Amino acid sequence: MEEPGTGNREPRSAPEGEIAEILISAEAIQARVRELAAAISRDYAGKDPLLVGILRGAAFFLADLARALTIPAAIDFMAISSYGAGSTTSGVVRIIKDLEESITNRHVIIVEDIVDTGLTLGYLLSLLRRREPASLEVCALLDKVPRRIEHHRIAYCGFQIPDKFVVGYGLDYHQRHRTLPYVAVVRLSA
Ligand code: PRP
Repeated sequence: MEEPGTGNREPRSAPEGEIAEILISAEAIQARVRELAAAISRDYAGKDPLLVGILRGAAFFLADLARALTIPAAIDFMAISSYGAGSTTSGVVRIIKDLEESITNRHVIIVEDIVDTGLTLGYLLSLLRRREPASLEVCALLDKVPRRIEHHRIAYCGFQIPDKFVVGYGLDYHQRHRTLPYVAVVRLSA
């Protein structure tokens, strides 16, 4: 949704002008993804885990993570939407697309691109726990610690980041920049 007051103007700036700085390079992301995949492969050997990606942001991370695993794993996706306007999470979440798979007695790993307030994750954890998985853990590429309201265990965390608006590697700003191979700080111009 467009921000108020910009309707009659040209787009704020060219996409490349919206990138203020690269926070995590593509190389650093790929190296960390390989480390996370190694840890998951070790911890879940013989368990045939199910990776649950939360659309849309986690799609890129899940694809790279899954391909770096050295053990068999299944994948599934959920799409959710926060109720309420604005860019902050309300924690009240609507399921747009549910899982295709039953997770009862499965070893489930929620794969998120970013944990911010933690409210979405809290909702997802309680929802999926009710389906009685054998185990339920979280793998998040980015952990924006300063914004945390609800604290949940993140067993596999890629990077802790400061309270800056970031895009790339699945993360968007008005649906832009998801396809960047790196994570960058966006310039929020009026
Ligand atoms: C992001 C992220 C989490 C949520 C985290 O999704 O993928 O689901 O926000 O925020 P929280 O910790 O404050 O609850 P977003 O709503 O941006 O959707 P998208 O992945 O489709 O871009």
